[in-house]
Amino acid sequence: MYSSKITGSGYFVPERIVTNDELSKMMNTSDEWIIERTGIKERRWFNPETDTVSNMALRASNMALEQAQIKAEEIDFIVFATITPDYFFPGSGVLLQRELGITDIPALDLRNACSGFIYALSVADQYIKTGMYKTVLVIGCEIQSSALDLSDEGRNVSAIFADGAGAMILQASKEPGILSTHIHSDGRFAEELYVRDPGSSRKVRLDNEIIKSPSVKAHMNGREVFKAAVVKFPEVIKEALDANNLNVTDLDLLIPHQANLRISEFVRKSMKLDESKVYNNIMRYGNTTAASIPIAFKEAWLEGKIEPGNLVCLAAFGSGYTWASALIRM
Ligand SMILES: CC(C)(COP(=O)(O)OP(=O)(O)OC[C@H]1O[C@@H](n2cnc3c(N)ncnc32)[C@H](O)[C@@H]1OP(=O)(O)O)[C@@H](O)C(=O)NCCC(=O)NCCS
Repeated sequence: MYSSKITGSGYFVPERIVTNDELSKMMNTSDEWIIERTGIKERRWFNPETDTVSNMALRASNMALEQAQIKAEEIDFIVFATITPDYFFPGSGVLLQRELGITDIPALDLRNACSGFIYALSVADQYIKTGMYKTVLVIGCEIQSSALDLSDEGRNVSAIFADGAGAMILQASKEPGILSTHIHSDGRFAEELYVRDPGSSRKVRLDNEIIKSPSVKAHMNGREVFKAAVVKFPEVIKEALDANNLNVTDLDLLIPHQANLRISEFVRKSMKLDESKVYNNIMRYGNTTAASIPIAFKEAWLEGKIEPGNLVCLAAFGSGYTWASALIRM
């Protein structure tokens, strides 16, 4: 059996930096409140003239392809995680494929929100393990800023979510790579963090009334999400370690989905991990949903925090609820 080796990674974030002070001019919030509750200092918002989910994904993919030293033509499969696709349909996978200038290979779209990237990694890994595909491009990319509720009612969501793209190239190898992935969901909590419309179960999917209603914006029960996240993160990280007969002390780096710095800190402390073993960049980028893990992975790699032979754990929790982990020997 093959294993999936990460041979390249990349990211792209839009140029526009939106600070907490700038947000405070749009709604009733403050730099102090946002930093204290979330750790976020600034985030990136897309430029509607130049940025789309598929072309941000293209820029992240090109960086990953360059590191892997392969051409787009060598990709066998694209797995694209986003909850903010360019179109209602088709998914952004085929648009990225077109931008990469390749045809025929399959492009699969996943919409598992903050756990989306690990779900995508898990799918890619299964195809590589069985020998079906040798080179898979995995993407997490979001434009959240165009659908934020910038009124006071939406401030708990709009202070957190932001835009960005991340990519990984996975290649079949006889060396250890992804050791295991673990994916979970519990739909009983679907409405704790969701966007109701445009939903297909309405008599009319979108009319003037729905367009103006708060149901087109994200609704989050922040407290409940927080409480569930701090339980599920450690649980799914431990599951990955147990599955490989490894301990928390064996970990070189944990890269949690950048949901909230307080959540990451809670998890770090409850798992007795040193600060140097948990990577966070939410201070600069906010929560970029499916993009946050691959962006953090690339930054950690660029900063020399990931080296060959290291044991790296990726973990996520989010809307659904969904939660997931991946344990990787670099
Ligand atoms: C969203 C979150 C930061 C809110 O913090 P909290 O301490 O739970 O705050 P609450 O929602 O209880 O709200 C407390 C007060 O702050 C207010 N508030 C919410 N957002 C605010 C903002 N951006 N600025 C200022 N005040 C805000 C609320 O309106 C509320 O005011 P009230 O007491 O007058 O009613 C927090 O719940 C959280 O981080 N949850 C997890 C969210 C998350 O990680 N989501 C992503 C999962 S992938």
